[in-house]
Amino acid sequence: MAKTEIATLPNQIDEILEIIGWVDTKRDHGNIVFLDIRDRSGSVQVVVFKKELLPIASSFGAEDLVKITGKVQKRPDKLVNPNIATGTIEFAAEEIELVSKSAPLPFEVNQSSEDVSEVLRFEYRYLDLRTERMKNNLMYRHKINHFFRNHLEKRGFWEIETPTLTKGTPEGAREYIVPSRLQEGKFFVLPQSPQQFKQLLMVGGIEKYYQIARCFRDEDQRGDRQPEFTQLDLEASFVSQEEILSLVEEMTIGLVKSIFPNKKIANEPFQRMTYAEAIEKYQSDKPDIRKNPEDLEELAFLWVVDFPMFEYSKTEKKLVASHHPFTRPLDSDIEMLDATPEKARAAAYDLVLNGSEIGGGSLRIHEPELQEKIFELLSLSTEETRARFGHMLKAFTFAAPPHGGFAFGLDRLISILMNQRSIREMIAFPKTGDAKDPLTGAPDHVSEATLKEAHIGIIQKKK
Ligand code: AMO
Repeated sequence: MAKTEIATLPNQIDEILEIIGWVDTKRDHGNIVFLDIRDRSGSVQVVVFKKELLPIASSFGAEDLVKITGKVQKRPDKLVNPNIATGTIEFAAEEIELVSKSAPLPFEVNQSSEDVSEVLRFEYRYLDLRTERMKNNLMYRHKINHFFRNHLEKRGFWEIETPTLTKGTPEGAREYIVPSRLQEGKFFVLPQSPQQFKQLLMVGGIEKYYQIARCFRDEDQRGDRQPEFTQLDLEASFVSQEEILSLVEEMTIGLVKSIFPNKKIANEPFQRMTYAEAIEKYQSDKPDIRKNPEDLEELAFLWVVDFPMFEYSKTEKKLVASHHPFTRPLDSDIEMLDATPEKARAAAYDLVLNGSEIGGGSLRIHEPELQEKIFELLSLSTEETRARFGHMLKAFTFAAPPHGGFAFGLDRLISILMNQRSIREMIAFPKTGDAKDPLTGAPDHVSEATLKEAHIGIIQKKK
């Protein structure tokens, strides 16, 4: 007999079916045992009153995996439990079997694990994922990905994967490096975003690209940052800034309306503000413009536009790119690049939600001369430019199309939509605040032989 999904039981009154699930709770009254059995779809109350089944039912512990054949019975009206989806029925056991026994649990999984220490939750993440809240979070993450894929597919975007073993991407954060065994002393770099490759796809004539892309940044951790996180990344050729903003805005509104119908979008179309206005009015480039920050259902989206091209870095004592060096200056400000580059504004935009930066993008430079000029302004020598970005400059010489794009920080967007306190709540296997994975123990030492093969020597820190 095939396993029946528990959630479907209320539609199958009087049928004899088989369910397989974990023991969520057990109430043992001696001559009758109630078991709440849970699978991915939901849970159901199983009643065990057959004498021969009582010893086995009462031997079950929390989270044992059991197989039960039984009959779906309608509950009398006064016993209906409106708090659970299967509350109109119960499942009368005819046969019971232990499929596998659970070790004692490090924490309860039949209630929210929010108050359990994060290190413990992450060490036993597979148990944490059995909790209702975490399962729900992953289900919504799946639904959101699915929505985006569908939406972009309908608008002619192709989903294309780009490499993760690659070369530096100048996105501002420190990078993770991977030693090359075959090229002694050389390293791959894990991408901070697919930025360069998505632009090269445009040079390749792909016109409309998207990807649910894993990005890697070796930054100090906070609640809304992870060393590896996911972007919904997109790029298109022959588009104006306005077209990208409308595409993203229409998609975001569509997402909220179809998956979060109870949420209220405070401002449609989304409010817009220049970077200069945001700084002047709110002293922040990601102001929270909610009317009532206490209202968990309010979503206040804000486009911040016209970011400066450059910022002056006091530590590096030079101009650095505010967004990234492939960002295009506003046409009106190109002539400022010679005399007053620090005043030039970029065709760069961020999407802010309830005071959090949930995405950003820009129109890009596609002309090699302009790109070289920007590298010069960033005080990169010709050799450095050639070594780091020669491939981009070369590609731009082959009639690169004008293009631009955007990337959502997917984890941030969905943690706000799901009212979660941290993006870690929306990631199946996240890292802790100090960038460790307590489940596998990564990062970890590797053997001398592995180091040798990768041509790596460890320098011990002087104590
Ligand atoms: P940017 O660097 O602004 O742009 O990144 C886009 C969005 O990614 C999210 N984000 C993060 N989320 C979790 N953990 C992190 N460590 C982290 N860092 C960034 C933010 C941010 O808005 N290639 C460009 C996009 C483009 O120009 O098209 C880029 O990566 O929500």
